[in-house]
Amino acid sequence: MKASVSRLGREQARELLVRLDSALGSTRGKAAREAIVKMLNSAVQSYTWVGIYAVEGKDLVLDAWSGPAATEHTRIAIGKGICGFAAKAGKTEIVSDVSKDPRYLQCFLSTKSEIVVPIFNQGSVVGEIDIDGDGLDAFSSLDREFLEAVARKAASHWSS
Ligand code: SME
Repeated sequence: MKASVSRLGREQARELLVRLDSALGSTRGKAAREAIVKMLNSAVQSYTWVGIYAVEGKDLVLDAWSGPAATEHTRIAIGKGICGFAAKAGKTEIVSDVSKDPRYLQCFLSTKSEIVVPIFNQGSVVGEIDIDGDGLDAFSSLDREFLEAVARKAASHWSS
């Protein structure tokens, strides 16, 4: 029997936002982003791989990640892939089945769904949270709401 992977719950989301605040404290910059990806990846079972990309000119550059393996996509042009699309549009993207999305850039064979949430600073996209899930349809509107709140925290701890 295959154990089912549990998705984010509403109570868990609330609790994680509080935990994140105390874990971040006065930590800023890359150290804060490292703390965020580690906490998300370890606390939410459906978040198989968690990364934060930072905008650098016309590209997104991988800044911090946590998961079972490194990705080859450490630099993605804005506009390319689901990551680049979300950065260009300045909107959260949820893809419930990556095999059906022609924009998808593959990182891991096991990935079935993905969510990308932009991080804004004074109205501009400065980075994004990218999460890969091994299950189909792993992300709901609760994940969107939660991760948009996490992105606001990442923004307020952005520069070192
Ligand atoms: N799948 C992403 C690329 C980044 S990896 O998921 C880590 C995309 O389509 O942009």
